[in-house]
Amino acid sequence: MLANKQRVKIINVVGARPNFIKIAPIMDEMKKYPEHLEAILVHTGQHYDDAMSKAFFEDLEIPRPAMDLNIGSDSHAQQTAKIMIEFEKVLVEEKPDLVLVVGDVNSTLACSITSAKLLIPVAHVEAGLRSFDRTMPEEINRVVTDSISSYLFTTCEDANENLRREGIPDEKIFFVGNVMIDSLLRHREKARKSEILEKLNLSINSQAKPYALLTLHRPSNVDDGETFKSILEALERISQDIPIIFPAHPRTQKQIDSFGLSDHFKDFTNNESQITNHGIHLLAPLPYLDFLHLMANAKFVLTDSGGIQEETTVLGVPCLTLRENTERPVTVTEGTNIVVGTEPKRIINEGMSILRGGGKKGKTPRLWDGQAARRIVDILMKAAKEGR
Ligand code: UD1
Repeated sequence: MLANKQRVKIINVVGARPNFIKIAPIMDEMKKYPEHLEAILVHTGQHYDDAMSKAFFEDLEIPRPAMDLNIGSDSHAQQTAKIMIEFEKVLVEEKPDLVLVVGDVNSTLACSITSAKLLIPVAHVEAGLRSFDRTMPEEINRVVTDSISSYLFTTCEDANENLRREGIPDEKIFFVGNVMIDSLLRHREKARKSEILEKLNLSINSQAKPYALLTLHRPSNVDDGETFKSILEALERISQDIPIIFPAHPRTQKQIDSFGLSDHFKDFTNNESQITNHGIHLLAPLPYLDFLHLMANAKFVLTDSGGIQEETTVLGVPCLTLRENTERPVTVTEGTNIVVGTEPKRIINEGMSILRGGGKKGKTPRLWDGQAARRIVDILMKAAKEGR
């Protein structure tokens, strides 16, 4: 319950790359009510490389965080525990009326538990998504965070259903749309000015020449050598017909080295490759606007990310999800996504089918209209006014 006060203090938490994209429109919206709302941004430091963090603050024009807990990488228990210890100090000092967390990363879990234990209400943005796969660390983070949140903001009707099934009462569930898509729609125009296609020699007379875009970072795909090699076999086959552009997460870059797989990639950063029809072209992680531009112009996208399944749906770009399941089924039932797993045969078949002119068309899910952050802040302001 939010205190009935003239001015409420809300701590917004970010930690990892996808969080930054989700918090940007919420911070923007909160700025509109300086008399009634004090919004404080706390960065846990879960992601800390410039390419994984600073570049996103710049592209998305997010204000500098008031506090950076500088936690960094570690095992799940260590990372989560360190965030909890540092975040508790922030809560004791700041005494916020509400803590708002987004997504499903370890920072989301750590900060929601810490707040709930101090009886500070938690708002969870992107609540109710379920892969029903508890081997996925994010699934644990989602289930626990939802179970202790007071305001559950959802992106789709199936998330509402999941929450109801878990016994969450209707008055806590608010179907508001998708803040990641708020950011996409707001930055779409600016992203068109990105020169990334020229830099990668993928532009002919300002038209993009065909390429596929790849991201891969889930521990289940890149920490297990056999699975990684199986996916790679499919990618190599597809890349004989269309070049694959691969901005790789630091975890993945490390695993490529440790499994001795670097010969399978062309290292664009060393200027080794003009991008031809052959090969998987490895790049460092890209800033938001460059990546959005690459995604919007791709023939198709291969990914194991969650958010990219949603972004490609809105962009109308076919997406092949290299996982056995998705917590975002609306991207399959309504959008452009196909969950293809990690077996080479299926990945190759679906990739080739897109190249032959297939690929799902899809439509934009309901309320993915750029207004989700406005709805969230409206609901919180109203709750504060009414003291509920
Ligand atoms: C985290 C999220 C995942 C999300 C992903 C987006 C959890 C459990 N997982 O996974 O849901 O999809 O972020 O990117 O929270 N590293 C760096 N520099 C950085 C950050 C990470 O080098 O700035 C390396 C470190 O070696 C680290 C590894 O990447 O050990 C993993 O980072 P971590 O934050 O633990 O999880 P992600 O795999 O990034």
